[in-house]
Amino acid sequence: MTDLLVYPAERPLTGSVPIPSDKSIGHRAVLLGSLCNGKSSITGFSRGEDNVSTANAMRAMGVIIEDVGPTELRVVGSGIFGLRAPKGPLDCGNSGTTMRLLSGLLAAQPFETTLIGDASLTRRPMMRVVGPLRLRGAKIEGAPHPTRAGDVTAPLRVGPLAEGEFLKGIEHDSKVASAQVKSAMLLSGLYAHGATFFKEPTVSRDHTERMMRALGVPIETMASVVKLDPAGWNAQMPGFEIEIPGDVSAAAFILVAAQIVEGSRVTTRGVGVNPTRTGLLEIARDMGAGLSIDPLGERAGEPIAEITAWFSPMQGGKIGGELIPRAIDEIPIACALAARASGTTTIADADELRVKESDRITTMVQVLRAFGVNVEEKPDGMIIEGKQGKLTPVDVESHGDHRIAMTAAVLALLGSGPSKIRDVDCVATSFPRFVGTLRALGARVEVQGASSAL
Ligand code: S3P
Repeated sequence: MTDLLVYPAERPLTGSVPIPSDKSIGHRAVLLGSLCNGKSSITGFSRGEDNVSTANAMRAMGVIIEDVGPTELRVVGSGIFGLRAPKGPLDCGNSGTTMRLLSGLLAAQPFETTLIGDASLTRRPMMRVVGPLRLRGAKIEGAPHPTRAGDVTAPLRVGPLAEGEFLKGIEHDSKVASAQVKSAMLLSGLYAHGATFFKEPTVSRDHTERMMRALGVPIETMASVVKLDPAGWNAQMPGFEIEIPGDVSAAAFILVAAQIVEGSRVTTRGVGVNPTRTGLLEIARDMGAGLSIDPLGERAGEPIAEITAWFSPMQGGKIGGELIPRAIDEIPIACALAARASGTTTIADADELRVKESDRITTMVQVLRAFGVNVEEKPDGMIIEGKQGKLTPVDVESHGDHRIAMTAAVLALLGSGPSKIRDVDCVATSFPRFVGTLRALGARVEVQGASSAL
């Protein structure tokens, strides 16, 4: 097990740093590349563990995915009907995206698969994908969820569809704004006999739609409804070349570190700024944080920018409504902004945080309290009272959650002494060189234990 010892920042953070590639886009590039009729080249692939889980699952179904460089993959697509039965269960590790997207894809296959994951993934709710997939004719079962009555979780047993059986078209009105559920329905929709309509309460990240459209899949978006109608489509996607943009969800930790450590100024380069992902940047700007976004055009149909963040005094505010799905993974680090802003910040409508890699409302409340910040827990969020001056040094657990670990590490830069963050191996799921990046900006962080990936 690896721990971090984070020292208070003795000087401003400065510099310009690369950011690991976007995990969400990485999953989709590997999945769709595997279904193409031709070769695809994926560059800037970060090899965070979650993306690797998706690549290994596709390899286990006979897709050739070659590592041609440290951040480059070549995928020899098998076509949408070319996957083969894997020899054993597909291990999704810690990745909810891998499990939920794969369940959609596998629901349409003529062979049976079992999806397994780590302890955290074996508590994530899966009825949100299992339910609508069943409605369209999929055979899919999970284990009863240990605490959520009526829900299921991993392991999931999916398929097979018998010869002559097909998934049906569906009009699904989702209660949650979830790109994972939407993507599962769109991937299964490629194989359905009939159109898929997916409606969500507010728009979640749209990388699947963008990539499918670029590959000629008949897909349209009308406000918060996506329609995929394969009638008349030749069921073929050409191989493609993609350079994956930097992950704004990873950049967020670095940008916020610069926004809260006095005198800092930091630039992250080539970061994806798809508007379905930039909620945190809007939150930071509304709070008065120093931020400039310089557009650099598009990469693979996704807008990218150079983002510079600097220290500046901030005021608390309200975070809720349609902003939440666009900042869902960044709410923990938004709590660090709130902890530093003057006045109080209210986070509401964020009950989805309770079913992430940890219950991020409870775990963030615990972490903030350990740092001496006053916070009130609410069912769908929290109210944080900003605290000026030094924070109390902490000794806290990550709860196996990469975003909790990284948020605690960033807050520890404001401590009155060194802080310990325990069990941080999980950081490698999304930000393999997190510690190296903080050090490059001038922070003093020690890694205690085995992990060389950080
Ligand atoms: C993701 C969607 C989000 C997000 C997750 C990645 C994706 O989950 O929290 O980290 O790549 O589709 P939900 O779709 O469950 O909100």
